[in-house]
Amino acid sequence: MKNIKLYVPQVEDLWFRKVCMEDRKTMAYNAGYNVSYGGYHYESGCIDFPEEKFERWYKETMPRVFYAYVLDQDLNKFVGYCNFKLDKTSGRASMGIVIKDEFRGQGYMTPALKLLIEEAKNQGVKVLTDSVPVSRENALKVFYKLGFKNAGQFTGEKFGKEEIVMQIELNLE
Ligand SMILES: CC(C)(COP(=O)(O)OP(=O)(O)OC[C@H]1O[C@@H](n2cnc3c(N)ncnc32)[C@H](O)[C@@H]1OP(=O)(O)O)[C@@H](O)C(=O)NCCC(=O)NCCS
Repeated sequence: MKNIKLYVPQVEDLWFRKVCMEDRKTMAYNAGYNVSYGGYHYESGCIDFPEEKFERWYKETMPRVFYAYVLDQDLNKFVGYCNFKLDKTSGRASMGIVIKDEFRGQGYMTPALKLLIEEAKNQGVKVLTDSVPVSRENALKVFYKLGFKNAGQFTGEKFGKEEIVMQIELNLE
């Protein structure tokens, strides 16, 4: 069993977010989307995250979302990150989870997601949601195993081709 915890980074820890977001293998899942935010690279999915943006990103993001690194306490290494953003009016929170490429396939997703679910419960989240392309079978399998249910689907576009995306949610009440 992995010995992990969720670690809320300080500004000086943001180098790890930078390494992940600028790593082609880690970000390949994010490639090919017609999005317009600055620093996004369509071909690779990478997003520029220069050091001079750390402070501002931190100040703007951290009060609005729960954002944490997955820390492997045996390796003493960050292996990924996860987040959720609570809409206080509805009690719904959209989430995300990314494990850095070199640490994939080693069983981090289930324990990391369990910790994120606990944190969401503690923060009063009623429904945790995510949107997951059907092609990410392994990820979807873990979400379903932990109790997420289908709540709809939509057709998006990746590299100009249709991509079916499942909207999934977990009721925490
Ligand atoms: C999805 C993601 C978070 C999974 O992280 P991970 O640490 O590699 O996942 P795990 O090693 O825990 O594996 C997840 C499941 O896939 C299965 N799996 C892993 N590697 C596999 C392989 N090579 N072949 C077949 N099944 C595999 C495992 O059985 C596991 O399920 P289990 O825990 O019930 O046994 C990671 O691939 C990632 O960051 N992807 C990009 C972002 C993303 O898709 N986020 C989630 C959805 S939006």
